Amino acid sequence: LASFAGCTPKAKEPLKVGIAIYKFDDTFMTNYRTEMESYLKSLETDDVKYEITITDGKNDQATQSEQIDNFISQGYDVLIINLVDLTAAGAIIAKVKAANIPTVFINRQPSTADMALWDKITYVGAKAEDSGTYQGEIALDLWNAGGLDKNGDGKLQYVMLMGQAIHQDAALRTEYSIKKLTDSGVEVVKLFEERANWNRDEGQVQMASAIAQYGDKIEVVFGNNDDMALGAIQALKAAAMVIPVIGVDATAPALDAIGLGDLAGTVLNDSEGQAHTSVDKALALLAGDTLVKEYWVPYVKVTPANYEDFK
Ligand code: GAL
Ligand code: CA
Repeated sequence: LASFAGCTPKAKEPLKVGIAIYKFDDTFMTNYRTEMESYLKSLETDDVKYEITITDGKNDQATQSEQIDNFISQGYDVLIINLVDLTAAGAIIAKVKAANIPTVFINRQPSTADMALWDKITYVGAKAEDSGTYQGEIALDLWNAGGLDKNGDGKLQYVMLMGQAIHQDAALRTEYSIKKLTDSGVEVVKLFEERANWNRDEGQVQMASAIAQYGDKIEVVFGNNDDMALGAIQALKAAAMVIPVIGVDATAPALDAIGLGDLAGTVLNDSEGQAHTSVDKALALLAGDTLVKEYWVPYVKVTPANYEDFK
């Protein structure tokens, strides 16, 4: 009787954790996935082991959906999904539900309606509004210190480099960074607003184009993330211009750039905190716990005054 496969205690087999990332070539999500893996490993005991597979969606939903189908057909125990395209959420939730595989969505938030489709799913993220507001505060402090109004017209002429259109973070950071300024009575003039899709090279190209069109009129630059902000700094350097640039994420190269005086500030997008929370929630779902639909990890404002604390 002891040899019946069905009687093998589940705890002795490794638990299969499938992690689908929208694409590997992304600085913030690389920190995030690396941390999820090492954190899961740190939770292993003599009895509980994790078999972790992380897939690269290559920024293509069809590719990612296939990877998720494979996790399902191979009997994975729990999934953590960073969707490529939020509009695919409904179809994917229907599949994991049919297969009874609890799933944590991360970084890109499915709609409330999609999240209501099943009780064994949750979302872990950070409130994008707050990151925008902190960017606005960093600019406001520079404005109040008299450091931004180069042409003395009492208005702030700005450039905005935006992330991918599908992502809630892009729209909300764009909106709330400027809202903080206008709510505080600063008059703003949008000179240039283009997508650079979270990408450093595209940030550099777009910033070069902003400089070609507006040159010395530009008084501050916002990037929806650090990679685009760092690309903008490269373009500014190539044009021998110095203008405050503000990012989001607090990646290692961004913190270095603050130290060098190249980046005026950023906002910590806590990849470590989010990685731990997503793993904790995945394991809680697996244990049968009832979870709420969303968990938020706080952002932190990072300036030359405190950036060393984040290194
Ligand atoms: C954002 C992050 C970006 C990028 C994006 C990917 O939260 O700030 O740098 O990683 O997620 O979805
Ligand atoms: Ca001005």
